[in-house]
Amino acid sequence: MKVDVLLGLQWGDEGKGKVVDVLTPHYNVVARFQGGPNAGHTLVFEGKKFVLRSIPSGIFQNDQVNVIGNGVVLDPVLFADEARDLEKQGIDIKKVLKISKKAHLIMPTHRVLDAANEKLKGDSKIGTTGKGIGPTYTDKISRNGLRIGDIEENFLEKYNAAKKRHISLLNALGETPDVDELEKKWMEGIEYIKEFDLIDSEFFINKQLKDGKSVLCEGAQGSMLDVDFGSYPFVTSSNTVCAGACTGLGLAPSKIGEVFGIFKAYCTRVGSGPFPTELFDETGATIRQIGHEYGAVTGRERRCGWIDLVALRYTIMLNGVTQLIMMKSDVLDGFETIKACDAYEINGKVTRDFPFSIEHDITPVYTEIKGWNTDMTGMTSEDQFPQEFKDYIKFLEEKLEVPITIVSVGPDREQTIVRAK
Ligand code: GDP
Ligand code: IMO
Ligand code: MG
Repeated sequence: MKVDVLLGLQWGDEGKGKVVDVLTPHYNVVARFQGGPNAGHTLVFEGKKFVLRSIPSGIFQNDQVNVIGNGVVLDPVLFADEARDLEKQGIDIKKVLKISKKAHLIMPTHRVLDAANEKLKGDSKIGTTGKGIGPTYTDKISRNGLRIGDIEENFLEKYNAAKKRHISLLNALGETPDVDELEKKWMEGIEYIKEFDLIDSEFFINKQLKDGKSVLCEGAQGSMLDVDFGSYPFVTSSNTVCAGACTGLGLAPSKIGEVFGIFKAYCTRVGSGPFPTELFDETGATIRQIGHEYGAVTGRERRCGWIDLVALRYTIMLNGVTQLIMMKSDVLDGFETIKACDAYEINGKVTRDFPFSIEHDITPVYTEIKGWNTDMTGMTSEDQFPQEFKDYIKFLEEKLEVPITIVSVGPDREQTIVRAK
């Protein structure tokens, strides 16, 4: 067996949580491979809304096993809050969730370092989620990190050494943090984590595949936030592209099967950094309002713009996408005209290829598409799609050269249309 990977092709918040939840019944295992509580994955069903941050979005379906892989960074405080909430919903979380011993721990001082780094950057700050993601991955790469497996041996010694190092870094930045209160909660979170099945997830996942079990890997963030290929330095600190599933779960590249690339019918971004198709006018505000484009966790306003096919072609290539999933199509239901950026004009030259940097003055070259002006939120099959929407799908498939196999027309599980192959 091979694993299937589902990941975001834009700047995150494409609707990954919803689709993982919808696809989970077809799988035995759902695994997160990177990121941490910077993610906010929303699921809506039976009139209720749930937001997941570190826990895979397969958690609400029945017998599936959910795995937090080695590539993830985990904050014990936020994890305990999230898991306890799920316990209250009647989910036997300790039975259905396994955590890699090689996943790294976000310490209270990582959060303080995140804030201090942002302060130091001033106007060029990244606009991080403030969850300590960058400093935790920095410690991982510089071989100073603290892992879940460390809980089992000389933990306090390791924790205190890491904390001491962080404090001296912070002091050098003129900060004198007081993390006592946070630390108390953090240690409680560590005690709670001990009650879970802490595993060598690379062995677990590969054994599942060998036994004929199916695995879905759930990406966090989006490819345009990838630390290597995204709009650097305005990115997150992990590999959000498909290759991240290999390193973040211990999977050989030959084990990758289908790659589901998920995108919105338009485009959004939170935090700072370039966004060539951003709309600063009424249209942008209308998309934000209709699409409820506010952060799932932080509540921050998401910047909105038209779909960017130059960036999408790039991220489809990077991920080897085999199937496309289009989200939030319904948000454009009331538009007379829709625009799609098929090329960039940079210094008078037109390019269809994604450039080294998108920080220069880019003028998007738009193709105008007639809107469908029809409420699609109640539709259940593609036969009901208005002709103009069918034309939009056809246009995108021609430009992106990958079939769109699923279309989402609303936030609910039920508002998902699988297209005939
Ligand atoms: P994720 O981080 O990729 O899981 O996405 P988020 O949960 O951060 O953001 C997606 C938002 O769009 C959530 O509020 C979802 O409930 C909502 N959503 C998902 N699919 C659709 C859709 O097809 N239509 C509409 N209107 N909302 C959607
Ligand atoms: P999901 O999984 C959207 C953005 C932040 C910031 C940058 C770096 O819900 O799609 P970080 O805290 O990771 O160091 O912040 O990345 N960012 C996200 N934007 N969706 C996310 O996750 C994001 N996770 C991080 O806004 O610009
Ligand atoms: Mg999100």
